[in-house]
Amino acid sequence: MGDPIQDEVRKHQAESIQRELFGTRLGFVLAAVGSAVGLGNMWRFPYRASESGGAAFVLLYVALTLVVGIPLMLCEFSIGRRSRLSPVGAFKKEGGKAWSLVGFLGVLTGFLILSYYAVIAGWVVRYAIEGLLTGFAADPGAHFEMVSTGWVPVVYHLMFMAITTVIVMVGVEKGIERASLILMPVLFFIVLGLAVWAFTLPGSADGYAFYLTPSFEELLDPTTFAEAAGQAFFSLSLGMGAMLTFASYLSRHENLNREAATVAFSDFGVAFTAGLVVFPVIAALGLQSQVSSSTVGALFIALPGAFVEMGGLGRVVGVLFFFALTVGALTSALSLLEVVTASMIDEFRIRRRPAAIGAGIVIALVGLLPATNLDALGVMDRITEWFLAVGALLIAIFVGWRMKDPAQEMLDGASGFFAKVVPAVLFFVRFVMPPVIAYVVYYSTTGMIDTIRQTF
Ligand code: TRP
Repeated sequence: MGDPIQDEVRKHQAESIQRELFGTRLGFVLAAVGSAVGLGNMWRFPYRASESGGAAFVLLYVALTLVVGIPLMLCEFSIGRRSRLSPVGAFKKEGGKAWSLVGFLGVLTGFLILSYYAVIAGWVVRYAIEGLLTGFAADPGAHFEMVSTGWVPVVYHLMFMAITTVIVMVGVEKGIERASLILMPVLFFIVLGLAVWAFTLPGSADGYAFYLTPSFEELLDPTTFAEAAGQAFFSLSLGMGAMLTFASYLSRHENLNREAATVAFSDFGVAFTAGLVVFPVIAALGLQSQVSSSTVGALFIALPGAFVEMGGLGRVVGVLFFFALTVGALTSALSLLEVVTASMIDEFRIRRRPAAIGAGIVIALVGLLPATNLDALGVMDRITEWFLAVGALLIAIFVGWRMKDPAQEMLDGASGFFAKVVPAVLFFVRFVMPPVIAYVVYYSTTGMIDTIRQTF
């Protein structure tokens, strides 16, 4: 007491003790990749692609991942590492009170996404367990109907939320980092193996054609563009501060630009490879009609149908597939819950354990709605997609026009090529990204309203 310098030192020590850090660079990268790779790659990507434009969607999705996704991820990384806070506090600290609303929007978005994400993840867990114990059902359409209705999905949803909550409770390094370190490589190799297997199926050619040959007309369709952008944001976990939060646990020597590129390429690699599994399999088995007829068709009806027809081998492959997907969903769910939890820790100054448990319980309860009502699930997915686009727009504007010296943050730890591109990236963040993302927001507004209208 009394000595201001001593006080300052003590305060600093207390802060740096409180803030957890990732143990290794690989740990951070895998946690970020783990966040990105999930149901978005294997459930959402194939169905959104088959719904709007097929290969045109895929091509736009690739382009947007590279051109908008990577710089946006770098923006989130920069805000997070600079402020060393979760979204609400980060925007307040770097931009003032009004900007903290962007953080709130992010927390709300994460909250809503996780509440339905855990429902779908619950179905995946059930398919993995059932596949292992009794095999895949002979009539996959009817079986999915059963899996997604009644009270059993509620149980799986709650179970999935409980596991997620426990890992987040344990904390950044021991929980999230360790889980990702082991599980992410497993996931990637399973999907890769499945793609090779799919290639050997007779009659798969139409699947490749649909997936890989874009029509020019659809490329110019603004709705396809907006959908592809929405998918890119979702799949890269952008627009709500998940990547921002992870970067807040980073030390200063990390090369943010390189990490953003690593995460984006890994995520794209898994999504693209998942497409190389899903579309040929669907074509080989003539299941096209089941896929386009429902949002869940590709993953939960067509693929299990394929596994059944393949006999014993199909069962092994199918179990591996759903196991891998469980892993992907879990590491993504962790990042969603981490944003909500970290915000509670930073804003209310409570400890990790009660924060994680409190957030987990409320999200699980909100999830009872999508768990028992598929229409609600679809609408929540649409609304949060729109939130992500709005969040992405505000993040780009923030870094481009409000944050102090973002170039400095982007350069810290970067070298060579990754340092040289920073001025160009910043120019892009200021002048190109805001109008492009605003265009996406505009068109996804209509998409969202249409979905809501059709549902109710
Ligand atoms: N990206 C994850 C997936 O593809 C989902 C996800 C995790 C997410 N964290 C997010 C989506 C944050 C948006 C924002 O499955």
